[in-house]
Amino acid sequence: MEQTLSIIKPDGVSRCLIGEVIKRLEQDGIRIAAMKMLKMNKAQAQGFYAVHRDKPFFDSLTDFMSSGPIVVMVLEGDNVIEKNRTLMGATNYEEAAEGTIRRDFATDIEKNIVHGSDSRQTAEFEIGYFFNRFEFAV
Ligand code: CMP
Repeated sequence: MEQTLSIIKPDGVSRCLIGEVIKRLEQDGIRIAAMKMLKMNKAQAQGFYAVHRDKPFFDSLTDFMSSGPIVVMVLEGDNVIEKNRTLMGATNYEEAAEGTIRRDFATDIEKNIVHGSDSRQTAEFEIGYFFNRFEFAV
């Protein structure tokens, strides 16, 4: 059994896509083990995306990610990291496969509706960034 962190980004929340994203996850057999809505400040967004701190898009990305509420979820299931990334589609929505969340809803490479951990190691850091062990329903 594997866990991963999923974020519905500020564009997904403001465009009322929370239900749509969750529906796609659940229909694919993914279980939501923990979930909450919050708004990051700039420093919190910088901490979350610290791995990208030297990238040219870091400032814009952390401005965007702290611009409004997000939904953070811990997803659980067999092979869930890969499964979630398949549902999301490629970072660049123009390269994302048909029927993926980003292909269907993203408007640019930054405002791409969702985030998902890319490895077990990243998932562990990202889940711990937002959740403590008392916040898991089961
Ligand atoms: P995410 O999966 O959250 O991981 C890093 C984010 O940086 C990415 O989705 C995009 O929202 C954003 N981003 C902006 N520009 C780029 C870029 N050129 N390449 C990759 N990610 C980018």
